[in-house]
Parts: sequence; structure tokens; C-alpha cells
Amino acid sequence: MKVTVFGIGYVGLVQAAVLAEVGHHVVCVDIDEHKVAQLRQGVIPIYEPGLAPLVEDNIKAGRLEFTTDAAVGVEHGEVQFIAVGTPPDEDGSADLKYVLAVAKTIAQYLNHSTVVIDKSTVPVGTADKVRLMIKAELDRRGVDIAFDVVSNPEFLKEGAAVADCMRPDRIIVGTYDDKPKDVIRELYEPFNRNHEKLIFMDVRSAELTKYAANCMLATKISFMNEMANLAELLGADIEAVRKGIGSDPRIGYHFIYPGCGYGGSCFPKDVQALIRTAEQNGYQPNILHAVENVNNKQKQRLPQLVHQHFGSDLTGRTFALWGLSFKPKTNDVREASSRVLMEQLWQAGASVQAFDPEAMEEIQRIYGVRDNLTLVGTKEAALKNADALIICTEWQQFKAPDFDMIKQQLKQAVIFDGRNLYEPERMARKGFSYYAIGRGE
Ligand code: UGA
Repeated sequence: MKVTVFGIGYVGLVQAAVLAEVGHHVVCVDIDEHKVAQLRQGVIPIYEPGLAPLVEDNIKAGRLEFTTDAAVGVEHGEVQFIAVGTPPDEDGSADLKYVLAVAKTIAQYLNHSTVVIDKSTVPVGTADKVRLMIKAELDRRGVDIAFDVVSNPEFLKEGAAVADCMRPDRIIVGTYDDKPKDVIRELYEPFNRNHEKLIFMDVRSAELTKYAANCMLATKISFMNEMANLAELLGADIEAVRKGIGSDPRIGYHFIYPGCGYGGSCFPKDVQALIRTAEQNGYQPNILHAVENVNNKQKQRLPQLVHQHFGSDLTGRTFALWGLSFKPKTNDVREASSRVLMEQLWQAGASVQAFDPEAMEEIQRIYGVRDNLTLVGTKEAALKNADALIICTEWQQFKAPDFDMIKQQLKQAVIFDGRNLYEPERMARKGFSYYAIGRGE
């Protein structure tokens, strides 16, 4: 099938590569000339396991192409994905200007019937706007071309994006009527062989499904962070509580890990956007407000513990930091807890020696060269002469370190662990002051 994808960010690129891999002929359109030039040579702008070979193989096979020429893309596609960004505007609402610009572009060049697929995370009611935009532009051109708009939100996770896209739990498709269903079935047939994953519904429900899913997951995390803080006060161990409640299948083990707060490009933005949507419709979303507040406070938890141990003035102190990305297996540092932590440490006069397997370039790009930040090539080098170690991301290589070496390198045997990687009792036996989340000192 001939597929066009507008927007080669995270979602667009992964989706395009996976659709090409199963045999569709995919043309990707982006306005960023540099990105397109790089991608044509197989150089991908993000770190995502398994994505680079997939892109490379499919370019070679002639099933994956990149262009800045929107006319070529529109001409090509039996279906046209809109997968451009929806950044938050000043009040936290999702900004639709890129989505609507693509809708207009599609209508400007359209000369055959097509199905337009909203893949971007967009507020409820966006498909209506996309439909109106296309209709208005076709009317302006004085042409009558049949088109459908469907809402097809993405549920992939960074770090596991290729696998999530190859083997989706479900494929949600919101349609206005039955017309586009056959095309959608054909498009997703390779992913739908073993059991039925397509769930058709109306467009507004599909749009809300995306936000409801992310907000439910964010709620689980904030709930557990609240329980962790309570466990701390009550002398309980949140890790025991986590296992205890996770064994109830109605609760489940997923997404109940307490930590130093959720980050990334999705949860913070989507919780905020749904709050705005609710408020614009005259509804106060109390749970969502609480989820956001608890998370903002949780990002202060590691700095608080550092101050509790070292006092308010950190002048002259150096902290080793392991993990900068918002979660493992990605170089993404958007809304990462590590940034809130570093900024607080700098404000209190401290310096940071940080190591991350993938995200150091991103951090360098954001903060530039500065005296109070040293990025080092190994986790061991980060420890040298630091006053304490702080862990923000649970990369595999941090899970079983050589504790004797850590003790030797640090000035004091102190660890602040934002991801509960180690056992407090064992750490005490090894002579560490060990601070974790919801586990007591
Ligand atoms: C999230 C959703 O999980 C995806 O289903 C969705 O498609 C995606 O957003 C999106 O809307 O595009 P992602 O942001 O890549 O995916 O990352 P997650 O694995 O969900 O992690 C988000 C944050 O929650 C991370 O900072 C992670 O450390 C934190 N987290 C996660 C916890 O603190 N505790 C947990 O138990 C799980």
C-alpha cells in the first residue's frame, strides 16, 4: 500500500519504518531539510533501539523515502498520516498549528481520494478541525475530492518504540462512518494476524482514549509516589508495599514503581493538556490536578534529601550524577527529573559530574559549557572526588555496581537513589548512608 507520513519526529519515523518493514511503500515528508538530508543517508536524529537498521534496510529496499516536497507526498499516499508535534502553548493546551498546517497542505495538493490519519496526540475535537480545514481548502480550489479523516492515536513507549509498533496491544481507530474501515484494515493487516487488535470507535472517543491511557498511567505513578512519601513517614517500606499490591491482578505490577517523578514528552504534556480541555469545558479535573502537583513535588524529593544530609548551602560540593535521560534506553531529557535536580544543586552552589550512556549530548546542547557541569565518559569517572552519588535513571549498568569502588572514589559514602535500585539493609552493612524513595534511611 502507498503510505505518506507527515512529520518525522519520534512517532512518525518509527511508524514509517515499521510500515515499510512489513511491505508498504512509505514516503515521509518533513519541512526540516537537514533532517531529511540526514535520513536519506540513514542517519537518524534520535537514539531508539532497533530503529537505525530498520530505517537503513528499508531505504535500501526502496520502501522508505524522505522528502521536503509535500506535493510528492500527497500525490503518493493512499493514506496520509499526520504525525507532527503538538507542543504545549502558554496555558498548557496542545498547540494545533502544525497539525492544521499539514491538513491544509494535504488539501492544497490533493488530486485523488485519500484517508487522512491523525496520529499526533491531539485534543478531543481535532479531527473535526482537520476535516473542516481540508474541506475549506478543497472548496477554495473549487474541487470535489472524496476524503476521510480518522483518529488513530499512538501508544508506543520510547526505548521500546519499534517493538511496541511491531506488536501493538491494540490499534485504536476512530472514524466518522464505515467508509475508511477497509483501507485501515488493509494498512494494519500485517499487525493484526494473530488476534484482533483493531478497535473501531467514534473519533472523539479515540482522541480521548489516548489521553485517558496516559493520564491513567501517570495517575498510577503519582499515587505510588504519594504512598512512598507516606511509607517514609510511617516507617514502612514502599518496595514491600509495591509487591504486596501488585500481586492483585486488578492493580497489576506495571507502572507502580515509585521514583523521582515521571518525565518525558508525553505524561507531563498530556496531563496538562487534558486539564486544559476539561477546564475549557467547565469541568474541574481534581484527580488530574493532583497527579500533576504530586509529580512536580516528587521531582523536588532528591534535592530535598540532599539538603537534609548536607544542609542548605552546597557551595564547594560536587555531586556524581548517574542518569540524565527521563528513563533508560533513550537519549530524551525532556522534563527529566535530572534537570530539576541539577538546577537546584547549581542554585545551592554545587557542581555536578554526570554520566549517562546516551543523553549527554542532549544535556550539553541544552546547558552548553559551564563551570558547574562536567560530563564524563564512564560511571566510574563521575564518582571521582564527589561528595555523594545521586541516581536519576535506572540504566541496567547502574544496577549492580562495585560498591567498594564507589566508596573509594567518593569523599563520603553517601548515595541518593531516585529509582530504588539497591537494598537499604545491604547498603547499611556496606557502610553507606543510603537515601531512596519511600524506604526510610
Ligand atoms: C508513554 C506511555 O507509556 C506510552 O504508552 C505512550 O504511547 C507515550 O507515553 C506517548 O504518549 O507517546 P514514554 O513517555 O515513552 O511512554 O515513557 P514511559 O515508559 O511511559 O515512562 C514515562 C515516565 O514515567 C518515565 O519518566 C518513567 O521513569 C516514569 N515511570 C514509569 C515511573 O516513575 N514509574 C513507573 O512505574 C513507570
